[in-house]
Amino acid sequence: MTEQNFIPKAYSESIEKGQFTWSSPSNIALVKYWGKKDDQIPRNPSISFTLDNCKTTTTLRFSKKENQDNFSFDVFLDGDKKDDFKPKIETFFNRIEVYLPFLKEYHFTIETSNTFPHSSGIASSASGMSALAMCLMSVEKLLSNGVAPSAVEESFKSYDDYFNKKASFLARLGSGSACRSIEGDLIVWGEHREIKGSSDLFGTKYPYKFHENFKNYQDTILLVDKGEKRVSSTVGHNLMHNHPFAEQRFKQANENLYKLIEIFKSGDINAFIEIIESEALTLHAMMMTSLPYFILMKPNTLEIINKIWLFRQHTGLPVSFTLDAGANVHVLYPEKDVASVLEFIKNELVAYCENGHYICDIIGFGAKQLKIDN
Ligand code: DP6
Repeated sequence: MTEQNFIPKAYSESIEKGQFTWSSPSNIALVKYWGKKDDQIPRNPSISFTLDNCKTTTTLRFSKKENQDNFSFDVFLDGDKKDDFKPKIETFFNRIEVYLPFLKEYHFTIETSNTFPHSSGIASSASGMSALAMCLMSVEKLLSNGVAPSAVEESFKSYDDYFNKKASFLARLGSGSACRSIEGDLIVWGEHREIKGSSDLFGTKYPYKFHENFKNYQDTILLVDKGEKRVSSTVGHNLMHNHPFAEQRFKQANENLYKLIEIFKSGDINAFIEIIESEALTLHAMMMTSLPYFILMKPNTLEIINKIWLFRQHTGLPVSFTLDAGANVHVLYPEKDVASVLEFIKNELVAYCENGHYICDIIGFGAKQLKIDN
């Protein structure tokens, strides 16, 4: 499959205006994406749990405009106009225009809200870009009267398969990890020779056996530092270009994903924990060993990690952690251990969270359309 598969033929319908609403969740990577080539192509494959409660809801209104020379749109977060969001969306529109040739024909109003507070240190780019990509795909579906471009018959299983893959493809061009939020519960992005259907261009559902032990896995997000990130992911990814350990790291990510195939099959939670904790620490080790170097963990991040290790040692319960590009800690554990782990979190970890805040989440199944307005 190539980018060409996503360039549509001329649309059959002429539509004056309309609106669509989608909600789309965040996701948490188990094998991390850190390092990319041009055009948002990852340097290594990654795999993530799609989340459920942490999500963005976006309504996209569109109306035909006279002048078709430029993009025209307004963005609102919780009802407030957000002009500072516009450059990121302008860049996104520039990247995807060739795949959605209607973009300059309409004025768009993008109304968005997140279930998690904006200042929680939880990045909204994955949920936000995936929700917007789904809304834009709904516009394309309307303009093509639900009839897929001819390439669909050759390259995709069905129109829905085309819709989701193209939405993921577009979301990737907004923010890499966003391409893993369209579906659930376990999504691979980036070509891996042992994973059938995996692609650098979009996320796909993990195609092999996924043991019961990992179903409904829990993710309690401890909000250690709710401030804005000091180093953006894009800057961090770019620092992998001349990084002394880059090649070894990309190789390791491929190997870790390969090991997970067997682990997901057997349900070996201890082996799972070893890989995901090592991935989290390696991600931060890459940041600490780039030039310029930087540290996103906070003292409380380390306090929490040590408490988790002690608790695991004392109780034998399979509670583990992962990190994204920030100080917050994602505590991961099986559904059957919810009661004991939540008690542990309340008694021993909440003290390390900013204002005692944490968010309980669970593996989910991706984006959902909220109402059909057209
Ligand atoms: C550490 O997807 O935010 O969360 O493609 O530049 O938008 P851009 O980066 P982004 O990077 C996420 C990195 C990560 C790991 C991961 O989610 O795999």
